[in-house]
Amino acid sequence: MMKFYLDTANLASIKKYNAMGLVDGVTTNPSLIVKEGADFEETIKAICKEVYPNPVSAEVTATDYEGMVSEGKRNKAWAENVVVKIPMIPEGLKATKTLSKMGIPINMTLIFSANQALVAAKAGASYLSPFIGRLDDIGQDGMGMIADLVAIKRAYGERFKAEVLVASIRHPIHVLQAAKLGADIGTMPAEVMDKLLMHPLTDIGLKRFLDDWNKAKKERPSITA
Ligand code: G3P
Repeated sequence: MMKFYLDTANLASIKKYNAMGLVDGVTTNPSLIVKEGADFEETIKAICKEVYPNPVSAEVTATDYEGMVSEGKRNKAWAENVVVKIPMIPEGLKATKTLSKMGIPINMTLIFSANQALVAAKAGASYLSPFIGRLDDIGQDGMGMIADLVAIKRAYGERFKAEVLVASIRHPIHVLQAAKLGADIGTMPAEVMDKLLMHPLTDIGLKRFLDDWNKAKKERPSITA
């Protein structure tokens, strides 16, 4: 079963969907943290507490090996369920090797090809984040990359440990297609999660049931709810 992550740093949204049992994890990035306007550490700690023991990705902002390793260790110390998010650049691969050897789980982000994902997995990343929406934006086939990656993972079975975390999801069809392919995880904004659970016919159907029930109760007071 595909896991659903929320791609947001908004605690209210996370609480809302977590109460429905829909939040298997949370991913954040510097843009999402800045959007909330709150302190990075406090935000991550609060999210980690809310969804514990589910994983929460906290991204490094350094771009050199030493800086990424140091920020990675710092972020991991904030909560047990922190996953350190590292960009798919050569220095990031070095940091991934070091941190993963220390037992710190890594989510490698900004992946735009199946080969980059393979490289990230080889370096020791536990989660691979291919960005499908941003590939679609430039006229490339985001979901094709997921199909390739899932096929590769399937071909290696137990020997391919990293999870395919489909990122940059923009709409419910992305979720549907990723699930059909058998991707491990889809991370999505709250607006997309909302669209997964809403259907106008559900609301119309419920209204009709209740109207019929209330009408019958008025006509036949012997009916009790
Ligand atoms: O968290 C990374 C990714 O999901 C960003 O998505 O919509 O900014 O391309 P987007």
